This record gives sequence, C-alpha cells and structure tokens, in this order.
Amino acid sequence: MSLIEQAAKRLEELRRAGATQRDDAPAEAPREPLPTPEALVRALEARREANDGVAGPAAAQTPPLRVAPAGEAPLLRPAREVAKAPARTTRHVDVDLERLKTLGFVTPDAPQTQLAEEFRVVKRPILRNVRGTDGASVPHGNLVMVTSAVAGEGKTFTAVNLAISMAMEYDNTVLLVDGDVAHPSLPRLFGVPESPGLLDLLTDERLDVADALVRTNIEKLTVLPAGTPHRRSTELLASEQMAALLSELSSRYPDRVIIFDSPPLLSTTEARVLASHMGQVLVVVAAQSTSHDKVTKALDTIERCEVVMTLLNKSSAANAGAYRY
Ligand SMILES: Nc1ncnc2c1ncn2[C@@H]1O[C@H](COP(=O)(O)OP(=O)(O)OP(=O)(O)O)[C@@H](O)[C@H]1O
Ligand SMILES: [Mg+2]
Repeated sequence: MSLIEQAAKRLEELRRAGATQRDDAPAEAPREPLPTPEALVRALEARREANDGVAGPAAAQTPPLRVAPAGEAPLLRPAREVAKAPARTTRHVDVDLERLKTLGFVTPDAPQTQLAEEFRVVKRPILRNVRGTDGASVPHGNLVMVTSAVAGEGKTFTAVNLAISMAMEYDNTVLLVDGDVAHPSLPRLFGVPESPGLLDLLTDERLDVADALVRTNIEKLTVLPAGTPHRRSTELLASEQMAALLSELSSRYPDRVIIFDSPPLLSTTEARVLASHMGQVLVVVAAQSTSHDKVTKALDTIERCEVVMTLLNKSSAANAGAYRY
C-alpha cells in the first residue's frame, strides 16, 4: 500500500472515530471539517509532483485543487501556488477608441485626420532626439515631459495624442505616464485603474516597475497610472526615489519613448525639479489665453534640460481648434 493510500485510509479511520465520539463528547469549539480522502490523495499527489519540479500529464489536466468540501474555504493552498511564487502578469486594458475619437484624440483607425497629420509634425523632432539622428544624442532623450505654464493648456491632450501617434507609427514601444499625480487623467480617458502606479513605485520598494504597467489595445502603447493618492503626491515627483526611477526607466527601456503628462511649471516647484531629470521638455502654450509673461517665466524655471520645445495649442489663426507647432 503506497504512502498516499495509507494516509487516506488513516484519515478515513479518524473521520469515522470522530463521528462516533461527537455523539457523546462534551461540547467544544467547532472543528474545521476534514477533507475527503479523495481530495487529500489528489492534493498529496499534486504536491509530490510540484516538489519533483515536473507536473505530470494528469496534473496538467486536473482543475485547481480544493481540499475543503465545496463552498468552504480551502484548507490547503493549491499545490502549484505553494510551489511557485505567483507569476507577474502585466495588466491589460481595452481603451474605448470610439469614445477617445469623440473626445477629439488621434486613434489608430483614423490615421489621416488633420490632427493626426499635425502630431506627425510635432513628434518628428522629439523622435530625432530619442534616436540621436541629429548628430550628438540627447542624454535620457527617451524621457519626454509634457508640461505648461498653468493648468488647462492642453498637456494631457498633447501627451495622449503624442503617445498614440508615436505608438501607431514608431518601431518601438511607447510608455505614457500619468505624471500629473494630483489630477490623474488616465483613469477617465483610458479606463485604467488608478493604482498601482507611479506613486506606489515611489513609496513601495517591493514593487517592480512591471507590476504597475498596464498594456493597452493600442499596439505598442503601455501606460503607467498615477498610483494611490498620497498626501505628498506632488512632492514625491521631486524626490530622490523619482530621480532613481527615471534613471531606471530610461536605461531599462532605452528603446522606449516615455512620455510624462506632468503638472504645470508655475503651479508647483516639483514640476521644475522633474523637468531637470528629463531628456526633453515640451511646453504646451494655450494660444490667446496664456500671457507672454507667464510663458517666459515658465521657460525660465527649467534648468538643466538640454532640449526644451514649445507647442502652441488651441490656435485659431487658420484652423479653429487645430494645433500650430
Ligand atoms: N487642440 C485642442 N483642440 C481641441 N480641444 C483641446 C485642444 N487642446 C486641449 N483641448 C481640450 O481642452 C481641455 C483642457 O485640456 P487638457 O485637459 O489637455 O489640459 P491640461 O493642461 O492637461 O489641464 P490640467 O492642467 O487641468 O491637467 C480638454 O477638454 C481638452 O480636450
Ligand atoms: Mg491634464
């Protein structure tokens, strides 16, 4: 008789003995129900296979093991979970592209619109700096911050459109980061969960970058949500952890363009610190609304970034609502 059969037999004997005793035994705390011998045998077999490191064909066909009677919490964790740490699986979200199109964004199924054409022009110099095709390559050129002087100038509109446009027509992957952590936009626009995200990566050292990424149905576009709100959300953007994360992102994904939707430069000092770690900064300027003085002040706050570009948004000069670069 094998060890497993002996264990099952012994268990059956114990169960019978327990049933007899219960009739006249004094009341005691309720016990956890014993698993059936069949369930125990299956669990032992599965655990032996897992310990051997090879799951046999029977195990491959067996549904996840439950050792407790149906409807009750399992007494033992399934053997495969015990044997291995859970695998990291990057989350995935299906972005509602029709809705995005209605909101005025570039979408992969409409590559010929005027907006798509304008973003081709906007992204070209940025990509040249990422690839270093203009001679000297830009340090951390794949880190691109999209910001503005004040709120509401079109940072999110620009960052999202740039990211989609690059993902559509660029050989490499694009990572869009919801870096305006006090006012995250990606949950609303893309339907991604807010966390785990950027702030969690900054506050929880056990998290790996891959744990916070979300793949999308837009090929080559991955997003990093803002993360769990923190009382020092914006301050964290200027932390040493953020500088280390940016360096890790830039070197771990050197062929990936990383676009940060960021807070406005004149509203928070953290945005200025963030800018100093970027390879490229794109300052969105809302035409006919942001004063020349504010734009100048905003540009003056950017130190230590070699490539600073401006994008005139919402210009009505020739085409209402269109971009002029
Ligand atoms: N060129 C444009 N054409 C049409 N609509 C635009 C354009 N730029 C921005 N918008 C719209 O203007 C509004 C504000 O833009 P957006 O949210 O991108 O600004 P923001 O700078 O990210 O604002 P906040 O600082 O509040 O995060 C949005 O409704 C956006 O869709
Ligand atoms: Mg925004």
